[in-house]
Amino acid sequence: MDPEKLIISGGNRLQGTVKINGAKNSALSIMAATLLTKDVCILRNVPRLTDVDIMTKVIRKLGVKVEWKEDNNLYIDSDNFNNYEAPYELVKMMRGSILVMGPLLARLKRAKISLPGGCAIGARPVDYHLKGFEALGAQVEVEKGYIEAKVNILKGDEIYLDFPSLGATENIMMAACLAEGVTKIENAAKDPEVVELGHFLNKMGAKVEGLGTDLIEIEGVKKLHGVDYTIIPDRIEAGTYMIAAAITGGDVLIEKVDPLLLKPLIVKLEEAGVRIELEKSLIKVTGPHRVKAVDIKTLPFPGFPTDMQPQFMALSCVAKGTSVIIETVFEKRFTHIGDLIRMGADIKVEGHSAIIKGVKKLSAAPVMASDLRGGAALVLAGLVAEGTTELSRIYHLDRGYVNLEEKLTSLGADIKRVKE
Ligand code: EPU
Repeated sequence: MDPEKLIISGGNRLQGTVKINGAKNSALSIMAATLLTKDVCILRNVPRLTDVDIMTKVIRKLGVKVEWKEDNNLYIDSDNFNNYEAPYELVKMMRGSILVMGPLLARLKRAKISLPGGCAIGARPVDYHLKGFEALGAQVEVEKGYIEAKVNILKGDEIYLDFPSLGATENIMMAACLAEGVTKIENAAKDPEVVELGHFLNKMGAKVEGLGTDLIEIEGVKKLHGVDYTIIPDRIEAGTYMIAAAITGGDVLIEKVDPLLLKPLIVKLEEAGVRIELEKSLIKVTGPHRVKAVDIKTLPFPGFPTDMQPQFMALSCVAKGTSVIIETVFEKRFTHIGDLIRMGADIKVEGHSAIIKGVKKLSAAPVMASDLRGGAALVLAGLVAEGTTELSRIYHLDRGYVNLEEKLTSLGADIKRVKE
């Protein structure tokens, strides 16, 4: 496919209503979890994104039958698959492919997964995942760029994670569901995606307790069964539209969202002078003429999400005053800064901190997305920059935002996708 870019003419105030799609990161782990049963699982409200397509390819490669029906529903039949290898060609496209490792060990007692490389936001090792599998009795070897793991019987154990890694918590939880005895994951991730995966597993017949706390206990069962499950709304997609409203001084109603999952962002936006009104599955955001500078520090859930850091930085670029943004989750998640500076932002980086002196105006420039959320930050900057911003490498955005330019256009933005 020819490379595409976005052309954004800044200056329009966003107004209207936008509906949020299903959560990418929740869909990915739940898709992997369907391998734990021989029965068909139906997943509803699955966002049609590149990352979801890649996960579809990964599990098809394993021999699983996957079919899209009624637009956003996935039917997954893992009755009879016997391939245990996720090859480099797919894993290099999406690190989240590693999430099939736990289910493969539980179902086939074997897994061979290409070692994911580093990526734009950091080295992103998978050592916690592997230590977890070893604790459950697997023999793990890393050779020629592949992780190979084998086990006769998975046995529950106590696992302490050095950092509350989302992926490691999910992968270990999935393997532990079909292990003998009890597994305890200490310093587990508390993210909503982990909680959702736990609910999904429990609906399949698993015994997972302590979801949403830092101690998750899983009592292994012999067998899991198929379920029909609806994916939760994407909190990061919702948060990105909240900032789009705030940065343009707009007035946007965000529908199909869970406000409880956005607390850290809501608090910071309110501190910055943005008006937020909440109802059960609605958030109304009204931006001031110009937001006030506020400081943020990314932390594991329920702290401020690293996946919202770049977008919040775009907002800070045009705030009144100086903000400090500290990134503690990923060591390199500042790749958007160079391009924000090209658009007139005043940002200095000191280690893991960015010091942003708000400017009155950003100005359009040709810029390039270097990862998903960094790309989103550049779209937001483009919405308020004077002139026409050309954003290339937008395939990064297609990994995480369904119909981004259609949704923004419906809110009044001047944005279009063209071939490069
Ligand atoms: N880490 C290790 N060793 C491990 C695992 C993680 O050192 O074995 C480190 C990572 O390098 C990182 C930190 O721990 O510094 C946290 O990583 P975590 O494992 O929590 O992240 P992840 O599971 O790889 C998921 C999301 C990311 C999101 C992070 C943090 C998926 C598929 N991805 O990644 O989503 O940023 O959690 O919340 O669920 C995105 O959607 O844009 C995205 C990057």
